[in-house]
Amino acid sequence: MNARLLLLPGDGIGPEVVRAASAVLVRVAERFGHGLTFQEGLIGGAALRAGREPLPDATLEAARSADAILLGAVGDPAFDDRPPSARPESALLAIRRELGLFVNLRPARTWPGLENAGPLKANVLAGTDLVVVRELTGGLYYGQPRGIAADGQSAVNTLTYTRGEIERVARVAFDLARRRRRKLVSVDKANVLEVSRLWRDVVNDVAHDYPDITLTHEFVDAAAMKLAFAPATFDVLLTENMFGDILSDEAGAVCGSLGLLPSASLGTGTGLFEPVHGSAPDLAGRDAANPIGAIASAAMLLSDGLGLTAEGDAVLEAIAAALAGGFRTADIAVAGETPVGTRAFTDAVVGNF
Ligand code: NAD
Ligand code: IPM
Ligand code: MN
Repeated sequence: MNARLLLLPGDGIGPEVVRAASAVLVRVAERFGHGLTFQEGLIGGAALRAGREPLPDATLEAARSADAILLGAVGDPAFDDRPPSARPESALLAIRRELGLFVNLRPARTWPGLENAGPLKANVLAGTDLVVVRELTGGLYYGQPRGIAADGQSAVNTLTYTRGEIERVARVAFDLARRRRRKLVSVDKANVLEVSRLWRDVVNDVAHDYPDITLTHEFVDAAAMKLAFAPATFDVLLTENMFGDILSDEAGAVCGSLGLLPSASLGTGTGLFEPVHGSAPDLAGRDAANPIGAIASAAMLLSDGLGLTAEGDAVLEAIAAALAGGFRTADIAVAGETPVGTRAFTDAVVGNF
């Protein structure tokens, strides 16, 4: 296969983890005989520093015409004083919306060897293998009106969803559950919010088409508790935009590190693949970031973006082999394990093909 990939390294540790993931993709292309070509674009703080908008037109055009996009992270403390619409992070919201990427898949699972890397007891973590299906182009992030009143004394954001927006993401979650353990938990706050009442109604309607799937509804506060208390009980979690943002970071901590989690944003336009973590300014430039989230995002790019399932699986196996070989970045090393840097870990993964 020939495919054109757009790399958007972005800010902080973004460039380091994108370098890691693209090195793995180059190796996959050699090993499996594919012609992958790479183009790089500016986004976020990196674009602002170059005197451009957070999402330059050229980047959006390249994104539209690419076969898949690999993104690092956006967010730069230098721009923290700016209003939301002028910050690096606005680029991420804009590219998701422009490309129609209405669903974000965030798998979280235990990796062999990392049973003690996180805060949970190994027996509680054992068997954890879940996917957060996060709605990505609606809800509070996009609702109008929004803004701070002229007198600075009040502010507003709007939570709104249409039946159609809920139904299309629900169908993705039910279809995914069908390929997994057939258990779907829909997360809402239907005891308080009207939008959640609608969410629950629409999910129940869609469920009629999926009689083989066990659907339950959880309030978001209880779901957050269960995720820490009994993570292995979950298979697929369906959430609106902001609940999914929050629960997926928690899922990262549960599994041992936020740096482990990949994601795939899919919809009508080019698929976008990025780790769940942010730009981690505290780690940037120190060869200290865990590249697993980004490398596993490259695996999702191959499997979910290009339909190259064997290649995607090979990437996950190469990560597992690096862990089995004892390689650990600092965030997942426990007492007695000597951490390696981002580059050394990546070399270990690349060496496993
Ligand atoms: P963050 O995800 O960058 O970091 C949270 C914590 O996790 C930090 O302690 C960090 O060191 C650690 N961490 C994150 N990624 C890691 C990795 N790969 N390896 C090891 N440790 C890792 O979240 P934050 O600190 O709240 O935000 C920093 C900036 O990133 C902000 O500007 C924020 O808006 C932005 N952000 C961007 C994205 C994205 O681009 N998708 C996601 C979240 C946050
Ligand atoms: C994520 C991030 C983004 C989000 C921010 C940076 C806009 O936290 O991808 O999880 O909230 O969607
Ligand atoms: Mn987030």
